[in-house]
Amino acid sequence: MMINITVRKLEEEYADAAYNVEQICLKEAWSREAIFELIDRKNAIYLVAVYDNTVCGIAGMYIVADEGQINNVAVLPEYRKQGIGKIIFDELLLEGKKKDVKLFTLEVAASNSAAIKLYSNCGFDVVGRRKGFYKNDDALIMDFRIDN
Ligand SMILES: CC(C)(COP(=O)(O)OP(=O)(O)OC[C@H]1O[C@@H](n2cnc3c(N)ncnc32)[C@H](O)[C@@H]1OP(=O)(O)O)[C@@H](O)C(=O)NCCC(=O)NCCS
Repeated sequence: MMINITVRKLEEEYADAAYNVEQICLKEAWSREAIFELIDRKNAIYLVAVYDNTVCGIAGMYIVADEGQINNVAVLPEYRKQGIGKIIFDELLLEGKKKDVKLFTLEVAASNSAAIKLYSNCGFDVVGRRKGFYKNDDALIMDFRIDN
């Protein structure tokens, strides 16, 4: 486990690097403009994981009423399997809880075992499946409800 990871809220200085992580890691990466627009938005949380001045991971969600819709989670390939995904995802959930999110929800490709493992470890359950949602794959819907 790496120890010098810091998780920060998106600021202008990280936005280009966050965009880069999305481009490298995600099929449905957000545009550079969309990422810049997330800075300081009240109904969104977007975090970056920084190691040695490098943005190596990102995690983001929109908040609609008491629901947190998680859209983007990614760690650069050379930084994977060292617990960074878990660190940033845990922090995303914590920030969501601070904003009174009661239900976290996300979609993940059924073949994406790394992401599914990460989400299961953090308390998410599979609650649905959308057949053929991705080109050659089903989407699983996973969620995590906070009970008071
Ligand atoms: C999903 C992703 C963010 C995980 O990042 P990571 O930093 O490697 O995650 P962690 O090291 O914290 O690992 C989290 C858990 O997943 C497991 N895991 C990681 N990679 C795995 C793999 N390839 N296969 C199976 N399990 C895997 C880890 O073992 C760990 O579980 P454990 O603690 O029980 O051992 C990363 O693989 C990624 O960026 N993938 C591409 C983008 C993507 O698919 N994002 C999700 C879109 S919904």
